[in-house]
Amino acid sequence: DLLIQEVLRLKAERQAVILAHSYQLPEVQEVADFVGDSLGLAREAQRTEAKVIVFAGVHFMAETAAILNPEKTVLLPDLEAGCSLADSIRPEDVLAWKKDHPEGIVVAYVNTKAEVKALADVCVTSANAVEVVARLPKDRPIFFVPDMFLGAHVARVTGRKLDLFPGECHVHAGIREEHLKALLEKHPGAEFMIHPECGCGSSCLFLKPDAKMLSTEGMVRYAKKAEAKEFVVATEVGILHRLSKEAPGKTFIPVKPDAICEYMKRITLEKVYLSLKEMRHVIRVPEEVAKKARRALEAMVAVG
Ligand code: MLT
Repeated sequence: DLLIQEVLRLKAERQAVILAHSYQLPEVQEVADFVGDSLGLAREAQRTEAKVIVFAGVHFMAETAAILNPEKTVLLPDLEAGCSLADSIRPEDVLAWKKDHPEGIVVAYVNTKAEVKALADVCVTSANAVEVVARLPKDRPIFFVPDMFLGAHVARVTGRKLDLFPGECHVHAGIREEHLKALLEKHPGAEFMIHPECGCGSSCLFLKPDAKMLSTEGMVRYAKKAEAKEFVVATEVGILHRLSKEAPGKTFIPVKPDAICEYMKRITLEKVYLSLKEMRHVIRVPEEVAKKARRALEAMVAVG
């Protein structure tokens, strides 16, 4: 395919790498040098010696890469690739909580804008949120922002009391108990892998006590090693491409086939090509914001 060849040619010419999130379109995942979750992508962005990073993902992920690597050029192929969850919280929301809790600790899910990360003590992803929160001091109030479903999951697993911000990812929040119920009836023998951002929350554990609450990387790892042959998957459907590729011979059934993030899907192969050709769109974070956000992000990258 000519477009793929052109992407690969330009990538070499620009000394670039393409990093793609697991929710990206299959054809975009296929041209990427690395495909992973937010944590893996942030680490890969730090590790690479490439001068240019084309970030096939959404805006906050490219921003994260830019904050961690001020000397590299980070390109986002479409500036409209946003995140409803990151948009749900403003810096004022965090400042208001801090005012009431001067001793408090703010834990920001990586799905936040740089200005919110700059006010956080530590960032987390779904892959390491439990581990990070479990290590926090026990005698101080904790504000977990912005995903309330993930926050409730972390509170339940760690036994810690967390103040939750009422944010949600519109795609995951749309995955509800009734979707799980229907699949349970159809596939009683399948293993259930459920992302903790899902709207069914921990109530899915009443329906299916042995369901696994997993981040996308957790799902890939689990599917590879589990004996089961059939898995019901509750998250954005982009992950199915990786699951089928990395755990061949197993069957993956989306709990909700229309759990599709329209922001993730704005990144097409053609836009990746144009991004490399025209070196656009460069993501820059003002240094005074980046400096503060970097501490919280470095604490995140170090765990898990
Ligand atoms: C991420 O961290 O990339 C998203 O939350 C999806 C995931 O759980 O990996």
